[in-house]
Amino acid sequence: MLTLLGVFNREPMMPAPPQLLTEPFLQLPTVNSVQVVWFTEFAGSQHAVTYGAGLKQTAIASTVKLSRTREDRESHVGAQAETGQYQNIKLRDIWRHEAKVTGLSAGVRVPYRVSSVREDGTTFSSGEYTLASLPESGTPLKILLTSDHQLKPMTAANLQKVVETVGRVDGVFFAGDLINIPDRASEWFDDNRGGAFFPCLQGRAKYEIAKTVYRGGAIAQYAPIFPAIGNHEVMGRYGSGDSLGEEFENSIPRAIAKKLYPEQTETQTEQWLKDRSFNTNTYEEIFTLPETSPGGKTYYAITFGDVRLVVLYVTNMWRSYNLTPDVRGKYQERQQDLDRPEKWGYGQVIFGEIAQGSPQYNWLEAELKSQEFQQAKYKIVMFHHPPHSLGDNIVPAYTDPVQIRDRATDGSLEAVRYEYPRAADYIIRDVVPLLETAGVQLVFYGHSHLWNRFISNNGTHFLETSNVGNTYGAAVGNKRRKVPPGNNKDYVALGNPNGLEPIVPTIAPLRGEDDKPQPYIASNDITVFSIFNTATGTISSYRFDTRFPGSDVVKFDEFAL
Ligand SMILES: [Fe+2]
Repeated sequence: MLTLLGVFNREPMMPAPPQLLTEPFLQLPTVNSVQVVWFTEFAGSQHAVTYGAGLKQTAIASTVKLSRTREDRESHVGAQAETGQYQNIKLRDIWRHEAKVTGLSAGVRVPYRVSSVREDGTTFSSGEYTLASLPESGTPLKILLTSDHQLKPMTAANLQKVVETVGRVDGVFFAGDLINIPDRASEWFDDNRGGAFFPCLQGRAKYEIAKTVYRGGAIAQYAPIFPAIGNHEVMGRYGSGDSLGEEFENSIPRAIAKKLYPEQTETQTEQWLKDRSFNTNTYEEIFTLPETSPGGKTYYAITFGDVRLVVLYVTNMWRSYNLTPDVRGKYQERQQDLDRPEKWGYGQVIFGEIAQGSPQYNWLEAELKSQEFQQAKYKIVMFHHPPHSLGDNIVPAYTDPVQIRDRATDGSLEAVRYEYPRAADYIIRDVVPLLETAGVQLVFYGHSHLWNRFISNNGTHFLETSNVGNTYGAAVGNKRRKVPPGNNKDYVALGNPNGLEPIVPTIAPLRGEDDKPQPYIASNDITVFSIFNTATGTISSYRFDTRFPGSDVVKFDEFAL
């Protein structure tokens, strides 16, 4: 009997099924501490990190329930495909646990694991990983530059190849668009197609391409993620639709919300207005980020080893370029909605105000003058929206939509249209000159789902490395952007509207049908990632062709800051 029990007791040596909703991930390291975060689907108790030699030290977590994570009929979760368990939008109960591990020494990695006890007394533990505090200046670091995962087909393959190619990275700079609909819980945790956000970044994905199952990479357990807000981190008016997709689409400017909902009183909070315009609640609940800027977690700056990273909130609502009368798009309202302003989309609503004189602009100006910034060896600015790109999403300009109401001779409304004067592009007009003057070496961004890079006349590098999970194409040759007719000054159909020419990759560019080297990668078969190596100051970009699972990862471009 004893022998039998002994055998039985060894069963946990078998691979255990996932127990916690996520494995732990690292956030906001300081000189002697780091935050450890994980999620469960039970409130539970005794949530803790054990760490150090023999895992003998303990850090107790504090627990908060996520307020807005929900599922709906479009969720791919549980047995939804067969049963349709979420016909209506339903709150999903998820708890977030966070513990601060302190007393760390720079450069010393420490083993850790987390555990949570469920109400029935069962203890669930994570795997064992290592953590570290903030790297000191002079520490050689490998930093993953990534964006636009969004549960796209190649994301798991991409992250798996990152780890297979360069090993463990020390940090992740993520230029926005982590998921598609931020309040849909399963997109973060357990989409049943296998490519949710945390599984891909924790080596627990299960996504098949070309008869090969990719697991993603065990990255977030070891390396802190520094994200920027993309358009996909922003929800529209809270509770405004019968699906989460509809709610996502229903964003309107804050100024319009004040007019549409005049019942707001002095006592109603800022959140009241956010719920009637747009919000980043779930993103802010999931990540622990610096909160020292006027924008709280929405924009911030950190020093990470030799890098000063400035993260901006520069993103706007994406709407269709379609000009048919039934589309609420970039350039127009729907014909059927003309007499119902509460149904309007107000064009590509700017979420992150950055025009000269805005609080974010003023904060950026001060940050660029700060000692931390000025003295940093590497000065990097990251945001979601592209300043230079061959991609689709650089048109129209990043500026507040100018509304034009076309009226018939009797005064009735015939159309509501929007224009975006390129001369008023806040990124190009206000932000880029500021960055270039301040000596920023790299501006890193995403949004158009392709790889391309540029160098300005004074040597500032611009890199978009968002061909991670899929592409939205490059506007070159016959592939023109869909733009309104008759105004090629504001709406540029081909090339980079902001002038700089794309750089041909230095090592192994792909070749076009004309056999000429292409200055971009825009592919649904070839996935791309970039690594910043602070020891050499070089940024190396790699490609992997998912059609050939056994093929090598190819380093195709490299440049130095
Ligand atoms: Fe985007």
